[in-house]
Amino acid sequence: MELLDAAFSLLKDIIEACKDVNIAIMLGGFSQKEGMERKDMMSKNVPIYKEQASALEKHAASDCKVLVVANPVNTNALILKEFAHSIPKKNITCLTRLDHNRALSQIAERIKVYVIDVKNVIIWGNHSSTQYPDANHATVTTTNGERPVKELVTDNHWLKNEFINTVQQCGVAIIKAQKASSALSAASATCMSDWVLGTPKGTWVSMGVYSDGSYGIPKDIIYSFPVKCEKGKWSIVKGLKIDEFSRAKMDATAKDLIDKKEVAHSCLN
Ligand code: LMR
Repeated sequence: MELLDAAFSLLKDIIEACKDVNIAIMLGGFSQKEGMERKDMMSKNVPIYKEQASALEKHAASDCKVLVVANPVNTNALILKEFAHSIPKKNITCLTRLDHNRALSQIAERIKVYVIDVKNVIIWGNHSSTQYPDANHATVTTTNGERPVKELVTDNHWLKNEFINTVQQCGVAIIKAQKASSALSAASATCMSDWVLGTPKGTWVSMGVYSDGSYGIPKDIIYSFPVKCEKGKWSIVKGLKIDEFSRAKMDATAKDLIDKKEVAHSCLN
């Protein structure tokens, strides 16, 4: 009805939602309002995503790539995965590129280089304050070649504390500053180009994808991993060394996601 009321000059016909779509960017959801419990928000989103799953299931192209942007992104994507069986689970992802970009930007600002020179940060886990922004494998392109961020940011305390907290809290800080969720940065992070066209050689990005058990993360949650993309397919970057500090943070955000999955499932019943 609203599409008709808006009298868009190029609107000719309204057909079934998701018909033959190849790329679905899921922006709609019910975001957490002040004073709302997590369960209240979840109980609004679970039915929304179950319904969206059924629209995708019925009408989308069988190779449709889905990127969930509406919060809680990981759980919304999980519900889609569970109810849209005809879409390959590899094609259902959620946005943590926004957090990834925030991490790149914090590091670039700290060591006073261009963002383009920083690469291979990782966001592990949930797009929430339990996420783990990890700079252990990140590098900076300098006139002397690639150098580890850990070498250039000499203050290890900053990397283990302020850097992590700032990235974890960016979304909340934006809401506080502009009384609304991030818009420009979220839209800019919703770039499908890496997934579709491939990540540049030697570079990875963070994406919320279903866990196959890599890095000891429990299976069947949608968890943010470092991924490389090639020919329209992502794969988790394997073999990165994980220290004790990282292990604890990766497990904590996995546990948060398992708790959220349980809450979401309880909303289904
Ligand atoms: C963000 O990270 O900016 C948003 O996901 C925050 C929000 O709750 O909308």
